Amino acid sequence: MGKLSEKMWSALNEQVKYEMESGYLYLGMASWLNDQAFPGFAHWMRVQAGEEMHHAQKMYKYIEERGNRVELLPIAAPPKTWDSVEDVMKKSLSLEKLVSGLINKLVDIAAAEKDHATSIFLQWFVTEQVEEEETFRTVLDQLKMVKSTCSAMIYLDNHMAKRGE
Ligand code: FEO
Repeated sequence: MGKLSEKMWSALNEQVKYEMESGYLYLGMASWLNDQAFPGFAHWMRVQAGEEMHHAQKMYKYIEERGNRVELLPIAAPPKTWDSVEDVMKKSLSLEKLVSGLINKLVDIAAAEKDHATSIFLQWFVTEQVEEEETFRTVLDQLKMVKSTCSAMIYLDNHMAKRGE
């Protein structure tokens, strides 16, 4: 099997950063949501941040398993504020679409490098991205439906609080 090619390593190493950056953004959003008196949405987003950290660690572990080193790159600070809960979910869905594109690029590189082990490893991420996009899209659709009506927002907030860790 051997080590990752330089190109494959560089792309996977960079993906660790993108996953961490997603987690950092979601954590920032969680704190803002909490501050806006939406503890349920805040909890939901904290769980999502945890998932992103898990994605980063999965990638990290794989790089090491192939006998390579991980070189951690700087991650950007998230914005401090958002316009609304809907804005938060809209931006999250955009980010997930971007990440799906990055994962697809990794799959392309693995195919070009004939790195079958990495191709198989990445399949989990491909499936996960379908799920992630769908999750955010559903929340966004529900938010559009309730149009920020107070009682409906409180109901949704209670619902979001139930997401498992
Ligand atoms: Fe790790 Fe939400 O993509």
